[in-house]
Amino acid sequence: MTPIFHLLHLCLALNLFLLDQVKPDPDPLQDYCVANPKPALSFYTNGAPCIDPALARSSHFSTSVLAMPGDTKANPFGFNVTLTNTLNLPGLNTMGLTMARVDIEANGLVPPHSHPRASEVIICLEGSVLVGFVDTSARLFTQKLRVGESFIFPKGLIHFIYNMDSMSPALAVSGMNSQNPGAQVGSVAMFKSKPLIPDEVLKGAFQINGQDIARIRRNLGGSLF
Ligand SMILES: *[C@@H]1O[C@H](CO)[C@@H](O)[C@H](O)[C@H]1NC(C)=O
Repeated sequence: MTPIFHLLHLCLALNLFLLDQVKPDPDPLQDYCVANPKPALSFYTNGAPCIDPALARSSHFSTSVLAMPGDTKANPFGFNVTLTNTLNLPGLNTMGLTMARVDIEANGLVPPHSHPRASEVIICLEGSVLVGFVDTSARLFTQKLRVGESFIFPKGLIHFIYNMDSMSPALAVSGMNSQNPGAQVGSVAMFKSKPLIPDEVLKGAFQINGQDIARIRRNLGGSLF
């Protein structure tokens, strides 16, 4: 083979390798796998087991769960995220999809968090939000979104959504490429884990003292997560 041919082969192999890295959840092996909330036997699968396809109805693929605002007063940050899942939208099972309704009160914050299994695309539907993510070299990418504008949070990277407006609430909707994206809120994982991370670890990690740790834990409250 000529050197140019070798180069083409290398490019092709590299391309296939890269394409392989951007898959969402595994592809379904049938048209759909409507989640069965009460399987006859208890066993574990990667995703929920499905109902008999002959029993599938249009309503399995539909939900009104995102029509209602969540309660933004239930946590100290002033936000609420309502998610689709295999219980409220059983037709999404195995499709590699989740939708989220994000309500944020005036000056409310969806605190820095990450989704270990999904990239996310967010669209601002009411108000305006400041969004951003930090990459693995600690570089911040941030943008102010007005109504109709969108932003991407790459898979696994820490990101936030902040309503800068002190008068009006904001509403955003996001899509994620996993049916179970998972969410890890940085401050909660560090300071409110069960059991707690030893103080000595937090003192070292954040260069703070025992009073600082106690104050942060108190301020984060006990009601959430
Ligand atoms: C979101 O709102 C619902 C009620 O609408 C509430 O049960 C839930 O605790 C809230 N979640 C958070 C994270 O505040």
